[in-house]
Order: sequence, then structure tokens, then C-alpha cells
Amino acid sequence: MGLTMSYSKTALISGASSGIGAVYAERLAARGFNLVLVARRADRLSTLAEKLQQAGSTSVRTIAADLTNEADIGRIENVLRNEAIDLLVNNAGMGPNASTAVMSDADAAATLALNVNALVRLTRAALPSMRTRKTGAIVNVGSVLAFHALPSTSLYSATKAFVLTFSRGVQQEVKDDGIVVQALLPAGTITEFYGTAGLSIDDFDPRVFMTAEQLVDAALAGLDRGEEVTMPSVHDQHLWDDFDAARQKLFGGTQNGAPAERYLVA
Ligand SMILES: NC(=O)c1ccc[n+]([C@@H]2O[C@H](COP(=O)([O-])OP(=O)(O)OC[C@H]3O[C@@H](n4cnc5c(N)ncnc54)[C@H](OP(=O)(O)O)[C@@H]3O)[C@@H](O)[C@H]2O)c1
Repeated sequence: MGLTMSYSKTALISGASSGIGAVYAERLAARGFNLVLVARRADRLSTLAEKLQQAGSTSVRTIAADLTNEADIGRIENVLRNEAIDLLVNNAGMGPNASTAVMSDADAAATLALNVNALVRLTRAALPSMRTRKTGAIVNVGSVLAFHALPSTSLYSATKAFVLTFSRGVQQEVKDDGIVVQALLPAGTITEFYGTAGLSIDDFDPRVFMTAEQLVDAALAGLDRGEEVTMPSVHDQHLWDDFDAARQKLFGGTQNGAPAERYLVA
């Protein structure tokens, strides 16, 4: 999808009220996209919409929605099913900082609902119209924690592994339909994410953080290049190539209809 010349196209961004999603809104408005901005904080969305509309001629619509809420997801699904949305940015996400046994039931349920269920529901709602129109792009915001779990990130890491695996499968499903699916895997990015999770960026090594502007600009460059998996913080591209090659080799090595010798009881 040629995003650089994208005037009169429309993007729907989840989690557009702050951080990475808000920068996507700014950058896509600058590229001429009309926008549908989704998040819970209506005041934040309105302020951003006013700013973007003053700066340019794009139309910006805001929809206050809690994507862990069934009725609210349904409202966004209707937009994706009934309007010509060219780019869906599945960005809304949360990551409570707590070990599995300690995390509240509410936080665990919300993390699964937002990071997994909402992303799947919105993707599924967007695809039929994109397939009919033979064009479209979906950006699924995962994390480098998709392949790394820490004691306090088990659930979050698992949801982001889901985002990566789901995206890689859907890429294959739609490859002949003119639809691009990009899995974006940010590493440390300076946003409200850490404060919301009960952490402080000051507690981390500042050298691992980039700004949300750097992250989104790199992500859009990757999308323009047609990348299926984009990791802006990875400087050595061979790291991903080697990892993905090892993954494919491992899968190939699983296709044997008998247990390995080490499991054969004498
Ligand atoms: N920052 C990082 O270091 C980092 C690293 C890797 C991946 N990521 C991923 O990047 C994405 C964006 O995060 P961010 O860093 O930009 O953090 P952020 O500033 O906290 O943004 C999160 C966004 O998600 C929205 N959101 C949260 N709960 C929601 C709900 N129930 N319904 C609808 N929207 C909801 C928030 O808006 P409301 O509160 O207004 O609803 C906000 O707009 C997430 O998927 C995160 O996992 C971030």
C-alpha cells in the first residue's frame, strides 16, 4: 500500500489518546489520511482532533470506546464493516506490571480482552471490506516481549506473542488480496504506558528508550517498504532473519510421526 501518497484514505487508530497511537494520528494526518480516533478518554481525543484539524484539512472523527467492553467493540466493528477504512492501526494495549498469581482478576481479564480479543475482533471486522476493495493495511502493535517473558510480564508477553503469531498467519491469508499486515514490535518507548502499569521510566536504563515519534516514523518507513515484521530498535537486521530462519527450521524438525529417541523408554 503506497502510504506516502494517501490523500482521501481513512485510518482508524485504536488507543489514539496518548503515546504511540497519538503520534500515528499526527503522522497519518500529515500524510493526508482522514482519521477515526478510538480510546476511552474522550477529552484527550477531542483535544488531539482539534489540533489536527487546525493544522490541516483532514477530517478527524473521535469515538470514545472501551475496547474491553462488548458493546463498545461492537460499535467499532460496525465502523470497520460499513465504512471504507483503508488502514487499521490496532495499537491500544496495556501491560500491568504484576506476576501471574498476584495480578488482580480485573487486570488479567482486561489485558486479555484488550491486547488479544479486541485486536482479533477489529482485524476480523476490517478484513471483509478490505478484501472486497482489494486494498488495505493493518498494523498490529505487538512488542519485542513477544519473544521474551520476564517474571512480571508473563501475561503481557504472551499477549504480544499472540499478536505476532496471529499477524504472521493473517499475512499469509490475505497475501493475494492486496492487503498488507504489519506486526510492529516496539521496544522501550517513552509513553504513559509505564506510569499506567505502575512503573516509572526513571527506573530503567534510559539508553533503551526511544521517543514515540522515532518509533512511529520508523514503523511507517517499514510499512512503506512492505515489511511484515518491523522492529525499529533492532539495528542488525540479521538478528531477525536468523531468528525467523531458526523458527522455520525448528518447525520443520517437528514434522516427524514418532517420538524422538530420547523419549523412548528402554
Ligand atoms: N511504550 C512502550 O515501551 C511499548 C513497548 C512495546 C509495545 N508497546 C505497545 O504500544 C501500544 C501503545 O502503547 P503506548 O506505549 O503508546 O502506551 P499509552 O500511552 O499508555 O497508550 C495506550 C493507549 O491505549 C488506550 N487504551 C488503554 N486501554 C484501553 C481500553 N480499554 N479501550 C480502548 N483504549 C484503551 C489508551 O487510551 P485510554 O486510556 O484513553 O483508553 C491509550 O490511548 C500498546 O499496545 C503497547 O503494548 C509499548
